[in-house]
Amino acid sequence: MLQLRDVVKSYEGKSTVTALGGVSFSIAAGEMVAIMGPSGSGKSTLLNLMGGLDVPTSGQVLVAGSDLALESEKGRSLFRRTHVSYIFQAYHLMPTLRVRQNVALPLRLAGMGAKEAELRVERALAEVGLEKRGDHLPDELSGGERQRVAIARALVTEAPLLLADEPTGNLDSARGREILALLRSIHARRGTTIVMVTHDRDAASACDRLILLRDGRVEEDGAVPGVTR
Ligand SMILES: Nc1ncnc2c1ncn2[C@@H]1O[C@H](COP(=O)(O)OP(=O)(O)OP(=O)(O)O)[C@@H](O)[C@H]1O
Ligand SMILES: [Mg+2]
Repeated sequence: MLQLRDVVKSYEGKSTVTALGGVSFSIAAGEMVAIMGPSGSGKSTLLNLMGGLDVPTSGQVLVAGSDLALESEKGRSLFRRTHVSYIFQAYHLMPTLRVRQNVALPLRLAGMGAKEAELRVERALAEVGLEKRGDHLPDELSGGERQRVAIARALVTEAPLLLADEPTGNLDSARGREILALLRSIHARRGTTIVMVTHDRDAASACDRLILLRDGRVEEDGAVPGVTR
C-alpha cells in the first residue's frame, strides 16, 4: 500500500538538518507497524511524509503506484482526505465544539451531508465506547476519553491508512493500554493499516512489526522482540 524508496528529508535553515538520510521500506495493506527511535531520529518527519503532509527532498513515496512527491499540493490534499487519518499525542480536538461535532468535522469538510455524517459519527462513537458523551465538550472529558474522541474522528472517514504519532504519550499506562487495545481491535475488525510512532515498548508490542530509526536511517526492521502472534 505504501513504499518508500531512498527517502531523504533535509530542512534548510541557518544550518541544514538532515532528518532522514535515505530510508527505504514498504508497508503492505493491513499491517500494524510501530516506529521507534531516539528523539530527533526522524519519526515524526517520516510519518508526515507517509501522510502526504510534506514532501521529501529526494526519493519516492509511492502510494498505489503513484509518487506523492510528484503530486501537486492539491493532489496530496485529496490523497490525505480520502486515504489517511491521523491521531496525535495531544488529541488536537476543537475546544469549542461538542464531541459529536469534533468527530463530524472531517466529514463536513469533505462536503458530506448532515444526515449521513450523523449516522457515521454515532457509529464511530459507539465503536470507541463514547456513545453517551456526544454532547460533551472536550475539556469535560478525561485524557483517555479525549484520545478516544480523536480515534472516532479518525474512523469516520473510513480511510485505509491510520497514522498515529505517540497516541499514548500523554496517558498513564492503564489508559494507554486501553487505547492500544482499541487500535488493535480496529485493525482486526476493519483491516485498517496502522503505523504508530511510539517511545513505549508496550505500544510497540501491540504491533506486528517494528521499524527502528536512528539518526534518520532504518537501523532495524522486523518482528517485535518478545511478541508472538
Ligand atoms: N520544520 C523543521 N525545521 C528544521 N528542522 C526540523 C524541522 N522538523 C524537524 N526538524 C529536525 O529534524 C530532526 C528529526 O525530527 P523529528 O521531529 O522527525 O524527530 P522525532 O524522531 O519525531 O523526535 P521526537 O521523538 O522528539 O518527537 C530533528 O533533528 C529536528 O530538529
Ligand atoms: Mg516526533
